[in-house]
Amino acid sequence: ASRLRILGIETSCDETAAAVVTRLEDGTGIIEGDVVLSQLDEHSAYGGVVPEIAARAHVEALDSLIEEALQRAGVTLKEIDAVAATSGPGLIGGLIVGLMTGKAIARAAGKPLYAVNHLEGHALTARLTDSLTFPYLMLLVSGGHTQLVLIRGIGDYERWGTTIDDALGEAFDKTAKLLGLAYPGGPAVERAAATGNPKRFNFPRPLRGEERLDFSFSGLKTAVRQAAESIAPVSDQDISDICASFQRAISRTLEDRIGRGLKRFLAEFPDVEGVPALVVAGGVAANQELRRTLQALCDENGFRFVAPPMQLCTDNAVMIAWAGLERMATGAAPDDLDVQPRSRW
Ligand code: KG4
Ligand code: ZN
Repeated sequence: ASRLRILGIETSCDETAAAVVTRLEDGTGIIEGDVVLSQLDEHSAYGGVVPEIAARAHVEALDSLIEEALQRAGVTLKEIDAVAATSGPGLIGGLIVGLMTGKAIARAAGKPLYAVNHLEGHALTARLTDSLTFPYLMLLVSGGHTQLVLIRGIGDYERWGTTIDDALGEAFDKTAKLLGLAYPGGPAVERAAATGNPKRFNFPRPLRGEERLDFSFSGLKTAVRQAAESIAPVSDQDISDICASFQRAISRTLEDRIGRGLKRFLAEFPDVEGVPALVVAGGVAANQELRRTLQALCDENGFRFVAPPMQLCTDNAVMIAWAGLERMATGAAPDDLDVQPRSRW
């Protein structure tokens, strides 16, 4: 394929983002402009993302973010080859804003439009920074998703496991909330856990030992609540101990669940080319204990552990641009301008 440049737009949750990315002839990518505006401040008072507030914030910010991304890349709309916008899954208000904007630009500038699945963006981004060949496994752990996915190729994905209740990031956020820690909960729980005793509480490890590769985290949250309620008054040390024990339970659970996934991969692809890889994505990938656990698990099973830079793990528009570029490079047809956003996909 020839050199391709694309404008990416992401508005599916609480980050408004625009990026300009180029794919070179050899398949590598260059991030030319990357702008992300987090709506954290607007939602933190509510302890979670409020869809109406998110949609309005996307409307207010998106146009100037796109301009800024183009400016940083030093290009005009004339110099891009296509537009890629997230069309799902996510909060419908935000998806409408981003996809409509993408369609309008594509129409006005006479460029093809690629409607991108947000999860596909997470799945393919590691190929932008790391020479990864198909097939590989991806663990997506964010505020909205917990999935183990087999990436066979572009547009060829197989979900091996998902959460049957809370997402992992959600479990961190809810645990933080019931312990009176700040939102978003992940970083707060990790900080508190640093000085805690991980063996003080023996929290459950749901689905451990089960054949299927799904996850479950709501029971863990309930156990945390019961532990907190059993102590009165709760000291800072108690909170640290609960957080450390909570993270330990998650590590042990992931060891079991992901460990099974790695073994299944080796069984299905006994002659995979080179060293097989596990890629992590999503905001929870910032967690150091989770990284240590996954690294050790990969070492044990002969896998390479691939963790893209954090700004590419959390929501961004580079990943949407890149997924669009990967599709373009395969010669895939762009989407019709009447493509509709899908909140579930
Ligand atoms: O991918 P992401 O930025 O966006 C959405 O899912 O929208 O993920 C955010 C999630 C939140 O639940 C947050 O608490 C969690 O990632 N998170 C963490 C850490 N940093 C962020 N969880 C555990 N440890 C962390 N250090
Ligand atoms: Zn995401």
